Amino acid sequence: MAMLHPVLPFLLLLLLPAGTAAAGRRTLVFILAGQSNMSGRGGATSGTWDGVVPPECAPSPRILRLSPSLRWEEAREPLHADIDVGNVLGVGPGMPFAHAVLASGKPPAAAATMGLVPCAQGGTPLANWTRGTELYDRMVMRARTAMASCKGSGDLAAMLWYQGETDAMSHDDAELYQGRMEALVRDVRRDLGRPDLLVIQVGIATAQYGGKFLGRVREAQKAVTLAVPNVKFVDAMGLPIASDYTHLTTEAQVQLGEMLAKSYLETL
Ligand SMILES: *[C@@H]1O[C@H](CO)[C@@H](O)[C@H](O)[C@H]1NC(C)=O
Ligand SMILES: *[C@@H]1O[C@H](CO)[C@@H](O)[C@H](O)[C@H]1NC(C)=O
Repeated sequence: MAMLHPVLPFLLLLLLPAGTAAAGRRTLVFILAGQSNMSGRGGATSGTWDGVVPPECAPSPRILRLSPSLRWEEAREPLHADIDVGNVLGVGPGMPFAHAVLASGKPPAAAATMGLVPCAQGGTPLANWTRGTELYDRMVMRARTAMASCKGSGDLAAMLWYQGETDAMSHDDAELYQGRMEALVRDVRRDLGRPDLLVIQVGIATAQYGGKFLGRVREAQKAVTLAVPNVKFVDAMGLPIASDYTHLTTEAQVQLGEMLAKSYLETL
């Protein structure tokens, strides 16, 4: 091939996602997946969302989300709007996570644009996330699209995973949790071409509907962390739970976002 057409570089520049082109920043892409507590129910446990957005969750031009229609847009709560369908959504850990990474001052992350790819769906057991399921395929498709639309300026940074409360209701699901989670990590890494992709799991604190197998799922989560390289564990045990006894409060989600950021920043 001879020379590029003179307007081509200009056109390519126009196609860059908002927030990256102007500043020439890299975009760190994070997959957010799992069930309701990842999606976020902070302030939304009485049938409607109270609309309270603490400063740690406020919109920022440096924090983008991949929309349901696969475009980068400025992220705002509820981050999983039109992704986690059929549920009343509130504050989750994604926004406070992104703010805490930017506020850390730790290069190169603190100088990047945060590209959040929300994929969580409330009430889903791990069996709903095995390779070939709707949720798995949507997640991989969204992550690939996110990377492609960074036009070479994106780095797939991590998958943040908060799930298992539903599995803690069933003896069989709890027993199968470790093997299924290891398979999920392996499949996501292979399908995204990143054999070393960082995965940060949140250790669940209670089971859905008082499920009896909480301890078993937590053991499985810890075992995955020991068995598979580059899988981390951040414990939600002890965080404040909302009055529905089922979801994290907004305050707890802010704390969790900061804990996830700390865990991620330790890997840099
Ligand atoms: C989860 O799996 C069940 C059983 O296969 C299925 O009926 C349900 O639609 C799935 N839910 C989602 C959200 O994929
Ligand atoms: C959400 O997280 C809280 C705290 O870990 C837990 O009590 C609850 O079971 C979770 N709820 C669901 C539906 O996953």
